[in-house]
Amino acid sequence: MATTATTLHKKPAAFAVQQLSPALGAEILGVDLRDPISDSLKQKFLDTWHEHLVILLRNQRLDEDSQVRFAETFGAPAKTTSGRAFSTKHPSVMLISNIREDGKPIGALPDGEMHFHSDQCHQEIPAKATLLYAIEVPSKGGNTLFSNAYSAYEALPEDLKARIAGRRALNAYTTDTTVRSANYDDAKSSHWHPVVRTHPATGRKALYVNRLMTREIEGLARDESDAILQRLFDHQEQPKFVYEHVWRPGDILMWDNRCTLHARTDFSSGERRLLRRVTILGEKPV
Ligand code: SIN
Repeated sequence: MATTATTLHKKPAAFAVQQLSPALGAEILGVDLRDPISDSLKQKFLDTWHEHLVILLRNQRLDEDSQVRFAETFGAPAKTTSGRAFSTKHPSVMLISNIREDGKPIGALPDGEMHFHSDQCHQEIPAKATLLYAIEVPSKGGNTLFSNAYSAYEALPEDLKARIAGRRALNAYTTDTTVRSANYDDAKSSHWHPVVRTHPATGRKALYVNRLMTREIEGLARDESDAILQRLFDHQEQPKFVYEHVWRPGDILMWDNRCTLHARTDFSSGERRLLRRVTILGEKPV
């Protein structure tokens, strides 16, 4: 049978899951997120998300209302913390963009590379999930990398696991929002969280430190804390733990901040990148 535009864009008849990489991630097929989500579909989403940590749906046509409604299926959206309003209707909507209008950025987190991090880890109650929807993407770069924090923890040498067991680390958000800054005296917000946290739904342990925001480990001399953190960052960013997502307009990703980290690759400031983000409030990490 000849392939036509209709057959190309036809949804699979039913919900289906395709793994994205050996590290993590799954694409969900057969769902249009503008349709209502039944309890049984919600459960399928949750099961897939807990198993694969990041879920992708392609070719979605989502306005702000439908993205917020989809997010609300999984919990209360968190108000953006940037101090700026990106939507007149939804305080939870944040634009991630390098686009400027009248010389002013229309989004948060400007151009280029971004170090690995977990959203809102500098707050007492970090985000459990982030939903990012692509509207415009550059022809090259601006990819989002995801690292599996369960696998990173499980693969640590036993002596290092023992050294960090039961300890907390300080996570601080500074004016340098995309790369690690030399100091954090001017942190806008900071919080101590366990270095290793237990996921409330799966019961699995995940390494909960990141290069962008984790600053020191409690109870260790500064030199040792710096050395251990450097080892942990290098360890968790190894390609074997990472899936790199190359965006297409219409993609929506939902990732679990409790067991993944994410980063962004560089891209040309001469090309437009515009994504819409909503986060869902989580729980105090334990
Ligand atoms: C984010 O860290 O929430 C944004 C990631 C991206 O722009 O790819």
